[in-house]
Amino acid sequence: MDGIEKLDVLISVKDLKRRIGELGAEISRDYAGREPVIVCVLKGALFFMADLCREIDLPITIDTLGMSSYGDQTSSSGVVRITQDLSKPIVDRDVIIVEDIIDTGLTLAFLLDNLRARKPRSIEICSLLHKPARTRIPVQAKYIGFTIEDRFVVGYGLDWEQKMRNVPFVGVVRDA
Ligand code: IMP
Repeated sequence: MDGIEKLDVLISVKDLKRRIGELGAEISRDYAGREPVIVCVLKGALFFMADLCREIDLPITIDTLGMSSYGDQTSSSGVVRITQDLSKPIVDRDVIIVEDIIDTGLTLAFLLDNLRARKPRSIEICSLLHKPARTRIPVQAKYIGFTIEDRFVVGYGLDWEQKMRNVPFVGVVRDA
């Protein structure tokens, strides 16, 4: 794949699979007897959501939500908007937001406010990655896959100028 040779593996396919299995088992236990709606934040969380859902042993439903943050590729401006809304109301539902990465926290802080106003029964966050060094607004995520250092990561859904989402592992750009 174009550019893949510039990447070092940060989280391997094997480690992703193992950790996502653990997260799925945890969610299955925590939500036993309920039917949560999984809200996938497009597009970065697509691959994570697809693998996570197959590890959740519950009658889930899936919806998607498009978000965009004005700013360049590596820094969020803090101005966030919904580019594609959910297809169904979430009133009285148990919502699990599935996100690729919590970086500054601005996107999720905005999204949480927006979705809470729709009166779900409960709302929690499941993020594959967390970069605590970059926090501008602390958001409480109940489920975190991996806590990582302040490096720009790509692959497994995360993009570099819209490319590299289909790299199967989470990588870091060498010398970046
Ligand atoms: P926020 O800064 O927490 O609002 O993150 C906003 C979005 O920026 C995330 O959902 C990702 O799509 C993107 N993002 C943040 N850090 C990275 C990264 O290291 N690689 C690729 N995308 C990133």
